[in-house]
Amino acid sequence: MKTAEPYPITPDFDVWPVEHLPETVSVEDGALCVNWSDGRKSLYHPFLLAENDPSPETLHVLSRETTLSPLSLPDDLTVFAPAVLSTGAVQVHWSDGRPPTSFHAGWLRSHGWFGEDGKKQAPVLWTGQDQPEPPTINGPDALKNIQAWHDWLVSLRDYGVARLEGLPDADGLLKSVVERIGAIRESNFGRMYTLEIKDAPDSNAFTSDALLQHIDMPTRECPHGLQFLFCRANSTSGGEGIYVDGYKIAEDLRVEEPEHFRALCDIDWTYNNRSRTTSYKASGPVIERDRDGIVTGIRYNTWLRAPLVASLDQQDRAYRSYRAFAARAQQARYQMTFAYRPGDLLAFDNRRALHGRNGYDAAGGSRFIEGIYADRDDLYSAVRAAERILKQEIKP
Ligand SMILES: [Fe+2]
Repeated sequence: MKTAEPYPITPDFDVWPVEHLPETVSVEDGALCVNWSDGRKSLYHPFLLAENDPSPETLHVLSRETTLSPLSLPDDLTVFAPAVLSTGAVQVHWSDGRPPTSFHAGWLRSHGWFGEDGKKQAPVLWTGQDQPEPPTINGPDALKNIQAWHDWLVSLRDYGVARLEGLPDADGLLKSVVERIGAIRESNFGRMYTLEIKDAPDSNAFTSDALLQHIDMPTRECPHGLQFLFCRANSTSGGEGIYVDGYKIAEDLRVEEPEHFRALCDIDWTYNNRSRTTSYKASGPVIERDRDGIVTGIRYNTWLRAPLVASLDQQDRAYRSYRAFAARAQQARYQMTFAYRPGDLLAFDNRRALHGRNGYDAAGGSRFIEGIYADRDDLYSAVRAAERILKQEIKP
């Protein structure tokens, strides 16, 4: 057993609780092998260790970013003579003669290869039947309590829609909430917009008409990832929000109507905005997937679709599959329908939770809803940052 020494820093600013300790360490084909106290075994390529070496010679102590070039390391780099220090940190020696360095056990545990890919965060799929209202958190509580703030963000990440309620009618409140998550993403509607009735509307949203389910900004190469709607006043009748989980519709189509699912994944539609002063245009399939076939986004908006110039066979396939998607989006069982109440701040994933509304009677009262866009990355970062704070708070 070696003398206790401070835990090495990690190549990041995250918190890595040590829940399992390395018991024995060895070298397999030049790589580090760690056997853990719970019986699991993990492996580390020497290049991975070198790039994340916390020594000041290779890691900038302030930025916590590596200062190495990939070519700074010899082709045949290996580690040898590994040892578990009394703190649980793991020390290795390097074949290129650099001084030995040690790695934080919590960091090692989270970055080892255990023989299987880690599970990806899976969305919670919903219909209006099993999720009649958005997950809802007390607004003032969320703004002052990190756990409640975290819970709201996690609901937004997992359900694609989440609401704060009971917020005061205050100028700048929506902006401050969004900017606490991340950067506002502007659009051709400005940095912030108000859902109001315009004399010359540059979107159906700026009328009192009912709106079919849709995403905003399908006209962009990457449509805005998040949308926030803050209801500051509403005394009109009608105008309820009607939301559907686009991912749920996609998964149901994958199983129940696979021909339409494939067409929705394969055929690009072009979307263009209708404006006298701007002309945005972008293309993509209704259902976007990653290389594993997992649905990652929906690009669906009936009134911003441009004519599809393609063979009649292709048009037929495209229209029939689009109609199959629409048939579900407009079916009551998929729809979560709820009123915008004064003090509600609704957040949703614009590329997953399709939104629409009932028409409303503009003469019957006032309706004041502010909107701001941001991106998914801001949400994911904010969740991790909140988790970092929570982990520090529960640190023994
Ligand atoms: Fe919209």
